[in-house]
Amino acid sequence: MHKQSISPRVSKAPPGPIGYPIIGNLPQMLRNPLQFLTNAVQEYGEVVHLGAMGPQQLYLVSHPEYILQENSRNYIKGENFKSIKQVIGNGLAVAEGDSWRRERRLMQPTFHRHRVGALVTFMTKTISQMLDTWSSIGSDKPLDVFTQMMQLAQNILLKSLLSIDSEDEISEMNQAWDTAYEYLSSQLWAVFKLPLWVPTPKNRAFVQAMGTLDRIVYRIIRSRRENSNSPDDLLSMLMDTYDEESGQGMSDKQLRDEIMTIFTGGFETSAAVLAWTWYLLSLHPHVESRLQDELKSVLNGRTPTLEDLPKLKYTRMVLEESMRLYPGAWVYTRTNLQADEVGGYHIPANSVIIISPYVTHRLPAFWENPEDFDPEGFTKEQAAARPRYAYYPFGGGPHQCIGEIFAMTEMQLIVAMVAQKYRLHLVPGHPVEEEPMFTLRPRHGILMTLEPQISLGDVYAPDMQK
Ligand code: HEM
Repeated sequence: MHKQSISPRVSKAPPGPIGYPIIGNLPQMLRNPLQFLTNAVQEYGEVVHLGAMGPQQLYLVSHPEYILQENSRNYIKGENFKSIKQVIGNGLAVAEGDSWRRERRLMQPTFHRHRVGALVTFMTKTISQMLDTWSSIGSDKPLDVFTQMMQLAQNILLKSLLSIDSEDEISEMNQAWDTAYEYLSSQLWAVFKLPLWVPTPKNRAFVQAMGTLDRIVYRIIRSRRENSNSPDDLLSMLMDTYDEESGQGMSDKQLRDEIMTIFTGGFETSAAVLAWTWYLLSLHPHVESRLQDELKSVLNGRTPTLEDLPKLKYTRMVLEESMRLYPGAWVYTRTNLQADEVGGYHIPANSVIIISPYVTHRLPAFWENPEDFDPEGFTKEQAAARPRYAYYPFGGGPHQCIGEIFAMTEMQLIVAMVAQKYRLHLVPGHPVEEEPMFTLRPRHGILMTLEPQISLGDVYAPDMQK
């Protein structure tokens, strides 16, 4: 989709379903957002007008290259997503303009490939700990893999970011985050927002949860400032960064905001992607068996190392295909500073524009059998033959996910280590349903049983002991 060089004022309005005043099509959309948005594109095309959202107009754009990349300076993060400010303050994910550029410059080196590479041993140790606890679970006892992946991804993040080891603190942060997540999700499409000082139960719970998160994060920052012996984690890297232009490091408040930003963006999405991946593998035994072949030939039962990751190509393709069907960050929004023309249509200034990888990733224009799970679509050749913005689970343009390498590294390690030990089976009759909130969660979790993989070592071990 390209901008045409005519004045925005003479281009036509995009088509779309007629909605109510003030709330437009929000009631229909909120009933089943994934279906509603997918249908809207099928019925109306690449740019759809979804009516009003309070004082603003709401649009859906399914080919987002122009907005995310070509004219990104005209598009700031959508106001509805900025409710996240109440958690992350002025952190990177909501900052704009010069302050965003400064923060991104400061944080980028922390997420560089070689820095993330240094965390691999950290990660594999944490995955092994989860597998140790799994080894005492019988193959007839179901467990919710979404909860398991949430705990694992959160443990990995909290240890890599803050070196938190205390189980009590991890569980306190866990509970506080659940409350904060619920509050944020309720704010996402709200047209009328009650200020936080109104003492509703939801507001009070949120304020309390934020108090807990702040207390823990500030305690850690204080103790780092007082101690010269800092662990080798992401926080230490952030504390060691200095702005090239001003020569200044981060203040306690900036550190707090960036820690909360990384915490907010850094485990929910990966956990959801992993849970969907186990679900998809259980439904497609031929894919699981190709995955096993690769794991056997590259690792043969070993714990993966940084050097193994480029060789685990099929493991990566499985994750990429899983993120096509279930992109953890299934939606985000932008607001245009000035009126613009997108795909030949006029978009008035200060509109809300929905960008949904979920919708684009299932467009028949880009994908032959969009609903099928087929990792072969991610061979080097297939990926190169597609337009760049047919697939964007990590976004694109200047705001592209800063944690992409971290997430891919962690997810490849988890899939490789878990799949070498277990085959996961979906519990028959368990309802699997998408819950499109802030991230794309499975609404009822994903109940699965664990079947230990029989390795040659396991088969021969008893005989050898005789
Ligand atoms: C599978 C896992 C992940 C997915 C699908 C994902 C997806 C995304 C997407 C789509 C964006 C762009 C949002 C926009 O343009 O408005 C984004 C931005 C961001 N992500 Fe991720 N993310 C993942 C993991 C992570 C991790 C592990 C971290 C940190 C450790 C992280 C930190 C961030 C931050 C800080 C931003 C804001 C970047 C900016 O505005 O400059 N993400 N992510």
